[in-house]
Amino acid sequence: MKGLVVYYSKYGNGKIIAEAIASGLRETGHDIAVSDVGEKDTGPDFDFIVVGSPTRAGRMMGSVKRFIGRELKQAAWKGKKFIAFGTGFRPKGSGKFDQMGAKSAEKVYDAIRKAGLEPMMEAQKFFVKDMQGPLEEGEQERAVELGRSVGRLIRTG
Ligand SMILES: Cc1cc2nc3c(=O)[nH]c(=O)nc-3n(C[C@H](O)[C@H](O)[C@H](O)COP(=O)(O)O)c2cc1C
Repeated sequence: MKGLVVYYSKYGNGKIIAEAIASGLRETGHDIAVSDVGEKDTGPDFDFIVVGSPTRAGRMMGSVKRFIGRELKQAAWKGKKFIAFGTGFRPKGSGKFDQMGAKSAEKVYDAIRKAGLEPMMEAQKFFVKDMQGPLEEGEQERAVELGRSVGRLIRTG
């Protein structure tokens, strides 16, 4: 199937995750385009979409929110499948940052669902060690594996 991975990434961590998910999907036989959210308008010529955003103060980035409003609310996307992912801190306790830990995953999920698309799975979180990264060990491989398992799932229907 034809899929699109759209992400915003300030420090490059989300870009690594986006590319890793795309590579897992490609390994399992899908035709995948990867696009930075600001790069170009994409058009709805895809069977499914993966959207990712960093977490900022518990929210997704405005550019990702605008992309969802501008593109995914179009009728042609209605009912198509999506995966939402977010990057941020791993919750370690009950502090303020913990409650906001990688919360963008859920924010992206909720916004896309509201736009009328169908989730393939719950919101996916990928964790960074510090403000600008790097990713925790194993996160890139976990993203490749996510791409592979989703790829196998949609191939077999
Ligand atoms: C101003 C600012 C606020 C942030 N707020 C949060 C937050 O509330 N929760 C969280 O988990 N991470 C937070 N982070 C960490 C970001 O999620 C992290 O920089 C981002 O996931 C890295 O992804 P990128 O390299 O793709 O930009 C914040 C980072 C910055 C710079």
